[in-house]
Amino acid sequence: MNPRGLCREVTGPEDEETLRFGARQVLQGEQTVEQCGRHDLDGAEAEVEQRSATLRAAALSVRNGLHGCCPRTSMFHVKHRRSGTLDPGSRVPAWIAIANQKGGVGKTTTAINLGASLAAADCRVLLVDADPQSNATSGLGHAADGSHPTLYDVLIERAGIGEAILSTAFAGLDLLPSDRDLAGANVELATLADRALRLSRQRRSLPAGYDFVLVDCPPSLDLLTLNALAAADTLLVPMQCEYFAMEGVSALLQTMDSVRATLNPRLHLEGLVFTMFDGRTSLSRQVAAELRGHFGSSVLETVVPRNIRLAEAASHGIPALQYDVRCKGATAYLALAREMLKRRRQQLPAHDHAA
Ligand SMILES: Nc1ncnc2c1ncn2[C@@H]1O[C@H](COP(=O)(O)OP(=O)(O)OP(=O)(O)O)[C@@H](O)[C@H]1O
Ligand SMILES: [Mg+2]
Repeated sequence: MNPRGLCREVTGPEDEETLRFGARQVLQGEQTVEQCGRHDLDGAEAEVEQRSATLRAAALSVRNGLHGCCPRTSMFHVKHRRSGTLDPGSRVPAWIAIANQKGGVGKTTTAINLGASLAAADCRVLLVDADPQSNATSGLGHAADGSHPTLYDVLIERAGIGEAILSTAFAGLDLLPSDRDLAGANVELATLADRALRLSRQRRSLPAGYDFVLVDCPPSLDLLTLNALAAADTLLVPMQCEYFAMEGVSALLQTMDSVRATLNPRLHLEGLVFTMFDGRTSLSRQVAAELRGHFGSSVLETVVPRNIRLAEAASHGIPALQYDVRCKGATAYLALAREMLKRRRQQLPAHDHAA
């Protein structure tokens, strides 16, 4: 038993494969999110519980034994499909900007945990930390200490994108880190004619094999966010269910429209996702209903609840899936990944992204 008594300790590569398998079951719908957290099952459901227990155990093994110690390829072998059941698109990566100029709404938490959930489904994911606060960098266990090229070096063309990419302790999830220098890019690039297209230009130089590139934006509509929107195929907007949320999102969607008209005709809305949702308050439920009424199917069905495990996981430098796979935050982000992959399957070839 591990110290928290949740389940057995496991350590082998086979168990890592089981984590992938279990996550795939959740993502493909053979196992519901609710079932992941149930203990009082019997009969046929016991098998599902057995699988989710294995998933939890395998995730714990990542947390307990393998965190930060070995590169992906030696941790376990992951077969990537060219057109698998989860993402039937080509291996041309889909670039998703995760943006909202409002601060503290869960952009970075979404980038990290959605990235991990997609990676758990055998997608290869690159998280680009486009925020000088570098929360995504530290939230994935890397120090923003100037020891490695960052997004800043890539934007000022001092380093190639491939040189700056780091692997993380979560297999399949890589990181293009940032540090405080990135704040200077807003000023240094300001006079350049191609200032908003610097990241977009790097798409061509991205090493092959990624399925998704998630760009974690800063809390402002600055040059860094513009670069992210100009490079992206879609925009994902995390938002809290509060009264001022609508105004901010309307401004962001107007920016998206103007970026589409000027810099990036490819850009469209991935969706709005409610974060830090507290269903116990009638205010949250009321605002959620109003936002769904206003934005319709642009609002993703998955709702991310307020869950302290998400914050705890970030402080340990790992995704919640690795920290406590059965927590509500981790299962919500698995469900979000599943919903997004399902939407993409349904929308193909509309989502057939061109690099
Ligand atoms: N669902 C959640 N439940 C509980 N805490 C959360 C949740 N999502 C995020 N948090 C916490 O809320 C804080 C803000 O989240 P996060 O850093 O992801 O927001 P952000 O939009 O990226 O912020 P910024 O605008 O500063 O970049 C963090 O401390 C994070 O751990
Ligand atoms: Mg952030």
